[in-house]
Amino acid sequence: MRKPFVAGNWKMNTDSQSSVGLADGIACGSMDIAGRRVDVAVIPPFVYLQAVVRTLNGAHIAVGAQDIYYEQKGAFTGEISASMLKSVGCVYVLCGHSERRHVIGESDELVNKKVTAAICSGLLPIFCVGEKLQEREASQTSEVVTRQIRNGLAGLGVEKVSAVTIAYEPVWAIGTGLTATPQQAQEVHALIRRLLGEMYDAQLAEEIRILYGGSVKPGNAADLMRQQDIDGLLVGGASLNADDFVAIIKAAAA
Ligand code: 13P
Repeated sequence: MRKPFVAGNWKMNTDSQSSVGLADGIACGSMDIAGRRVDVAVIPPFVYLQAVVRTLNGAHIAVGAQDIYYEQKGAFTGEISASMLKSVGCVYVLCGHSERRHVIGESDELVNKKVTAAICSGLLPIFCVGEKLQEREASQTSEVVTRQIRNGLAGLGVEKVSAVTIAYEPVWAIGTGLTATPQQAQEVHALIRRLLGEMYDAQLAEEIRILYGGSVKPGNAADLMRQQDIDGLLVGGASLNADDFVAIIKAAAA
């Protein structure tokens, strides 16, 4: 049985006060279930990580970072290493989020270096994949997601890949209010699990968690979670409201 996992990606939102307030609201609302029936993580901007880690002390909610650089240290102005993230209490890190791929221009090769660096340093990567609208319309979803997974996990053996959580986030569903239907999401999740079975082994494919992301709201979370291969949710906009995010956590735990 895969334990449900809900993560809130705050993206470039909140400020020094509201980040702490939001973390506190989520901790209060999910006190009875977070860490027990469902794993929960929040993913604030870098500059608020320490304050959020302090606020969540004792709450059984993990903290993740939105990105990482693959080098350990040195002359890489503006970048943040895995050991820096670990030293402030981060457990998870997003790698290859669609906004980094498509707004900032990250390649599969760069994402692969980031996933590798995260695992080798003891962080747990949430490795994001997903097709753009024109790719879906051209029936290229399977091809694109397969390429992203093969390239993003290149060179990693089964032991390392077992540290990974996959997030399927169709680009056309992110921040648009257009959610993939539970069936559309399930189809791609099943494809990803089959692919992992081919690349690694049946046990890894069975145990790895695959999250869905893209306009997840309190009203659609339960339907998505009912799908066999959807093990959790990666939430953007709705994770900025404590009540909405807590409702999604509860739907995932049900
Ligand atoms: P939205 O939930 O705002 O669509 O964002 C999804 C996402 O990108 C989470 O990483």
